[in-house]
Amino acid sequence: MAVLEVLAYPNPFLRQRAQAVTEFDDALRQFVADMEETMKAEDGIGLAATQVGRDARLLILDPYALEGDDGRGKPNLVIINPEVVWESEGRTTGEEGCLSFPGVFIQVSRPDKVRIRALDAHGAPYEIEGEGLGARAILHEIDHLNGVVMIDHVSNLQRRRALKKHEKNQKALTKAREEG
Ligand code: NI
Repeated sequence: MAVLEVLAYPNPFLRQRAQAVTEFDDALRQFVADMEETMKAEDGIGLAATQVGRDARLLILDPYALEGDDGRGKPNLVIINPEVVWESEGRTTGEEGCLSFPGVFIQVSRPDKVRIRALDAHGAPYEIEGEGLGARAILHEIDHLNGVVMIDHVSNLQRRRALKKHEKNQKALTKAREEG
């Protein structure tokens, strides 16, 4: 397994709409294992293939996102070619972060509940519902597959603030890397 590089905004790849997955082979499952290793190393609860530079409608979610503490120790959810089949009208504004904006947290409005249809790593279809953080995480990651990032959901003022913070963080990261 390998830890993959997570692309930081504004890498142009993050703006691409990803292609559907058509081959459910060992190479795909190896890629999923690498994504899982990457999400763990980066301490995230969700990761989209787009974020590691792969043109594929595939994302993984830590079961913590859907089940809270009950999800600890359970396998990650592998969500391929997802389709939203239902969204609640009720929405909640809550804190959101993203591994492509490390250290930036913004308030984003999302539906309270969502139901999706997807394929697993073997191509088998299933449906799953997310509520609260679960709905937020699912929709945030599906956005990535459509070239959408979290700052697209907030006001111009909030976006400018978030980008200022992001640039500052990225400069500090670059400096830290240079200093070894
Ligand atoms: Ni993200």
